[in-house]
Amino acid sequence: MTFQAALIVDRDFDIAPLDRRLFGVFVEHLGRCVYNGIHEPGHPSADEHGFRGDVAELTKELGATIVRYPGGNFMSGYNWEDGVGPKEQRPRRLDLAWFSTETNQVGTHEFMHWCRKVGIEPMFGVNLGTRGPDEARHYLEYCNHPGGTALSDLRRSHGAEEPLGIKFWCLGNEMDGPWQICQKTPDEYGRIAKETAKLMRWVDPTVELAACGSSAYDMPTYGVWEDRVLEHCFEFVDYLSLHSYFVKPPADTSTESFFAQIETNARYIEDTVAIADAVATRKRSNKRLMLSFDEWNVWYRARHGEHLKQAGWPEAPRLLEEVYTAEDALLIGGMLTMFMNHADRLKVACMAQLCNVIAPIMTEPGGPAWRQTIFHPFAQAARWARGDVLRPVIESPSFANARHGELPYLCASVVDDAATGQTAIFLLNRHLTDEMDLSIALRGLGIERQLVSAEQLHSADLNASNTADAPDRVAPQPLDGIATLDDGLSVRLKPASWNVIVTKALRA
Ligand code: AHR
Repeated sequence: MTFQAALIVDRDFDIAPLDRRLFGVFVEHLGRCVYNGIHEPGHPSADEHGFRGDVAELTKELGATIVRYPGGNFMSGYNWEDGVGPKEQRPRRLDLAWFSTETNQVGTHEFMHWCRKVGIEPMFGVNLGTRGPDEARHYLEYCNHPGGTALSDLRRSHGAEEPLGIKFWCLGNEMDGPWQICQKTPDEYGRIAKETAKLMRWVDPTVELAACGSSAYDMPTYGVWEDRVLEHCFEFVDYLSLHSYFVKPPADTSTESFFAQIETNARYIEDTVAIADAVATRKRSNKRLMLSFDEWNVWYRARHGEHLKQAGWPEAPRLLEEVYTAEDALLIGGMLTMFMNHADRLKVACMAQLCNVIAPIMTEPGGPAWRQTIFHPFAQAARWARGDVLRPVIESPSFANARHGELPYLCASVVDDAATGQTAIFLLNRHLTDEMDLSIALRGLGIERQLVSAEQLHSADLNASNTADAPDRVAPQPLDGIATLDDGLSVRLKPASWNVIVTKALRA
């Protein structure tokens, strides 16, 4: 069966310029993300610092623009001083976040080396669990102050003559969560976030600071947490964080409900904006706080039991090693369209995580690295989404969802790059059995339209995944049969498919 749908955009109706930091990732000292993940000194592709070359190449191909580090929950018990200076003198510590042993063989300078190697901006976090403002200002002084003080000269003595220039800092992690090392009430956290932000800006006025929002939309304290935290620190921070992991509850494992989490997370963003703006109103402030969705992904299989904690304080155990399916990749594509469509307030997003731990890239020690299914929609969006996000008007048949009512089968975003004349169109057909005949009107976007790229991600088996033995089982294929017109396109989309079409107008 086939159904009709339409997508209409107009160059005059834009949402906002796309912040390329929407294509961020996350590297935590957790399981095999760092050790035996991005870092494996004995691997044939490792560089002189022990970082795997094959993982670095895949990270570049993924197109990630910013990377959050060193946690996550790990951050709330981390002493940054343990990870600098001669490696042989670095302490081994119990990591209470993941019940593992942290060897500290990778720390600030090793990670900065890796960031330069892959060409990615670092986003660091400070420990507001076991520590506080004093540690945070010292860490920033160590990293970013040019020299002439004990801490900046200590950095120079460690081989980094120039400041590290780390701009983006997270003020702690998920401080509302009972699982967090030194959970806080919103008033406790709001006060500490404010004082920490104040001191950090005095050390380096150029930093950008993100306060912790709730660790999930469904936390019982969601809303109250945001309101109270911002009451304290609204004037002192630039971003509020959101975290979301997409699940399949046993009570409803349908693919349609799974895909409806796109709308749930859109509501999460819009509700959080509303709370931040209500705080602004209360404070008689014109400031509009921006959002950092700095943890997001599918995560529901490798979530409990041995996936979370292992006995005996192991080094780099296999934790949270979720194997992703074609169905997951489609949801990731749909989430990316939703993120782009909130580009006016959402400036940063980090897929959690990068390697082995709920990750687009998997590795085996001494063996291969490969792309999970979710790698592909992320890499396509990171490659092509540049410029201004245009408001998508969607006309599509819909399906019923218990939480949201009627939802269109089509999810879409459109990003137009005036510099290159290229318009990138991202499309998810959420119909599981029917093809979509889609007409796309591109108003005011030039004429003599040519196709630059057209790919689809579709698998007859939604449970198919990529493995070391079959790393390309789920991968993009050419999308054929596109008719280009001066003012638009028409295309037929397979059921349950993610599609990326890039066109270029040769004349205005
Ligand atoms: O990404 C895994 C964990 O999920 C992070 O450490 C934490 O912030 C979140 O709860």
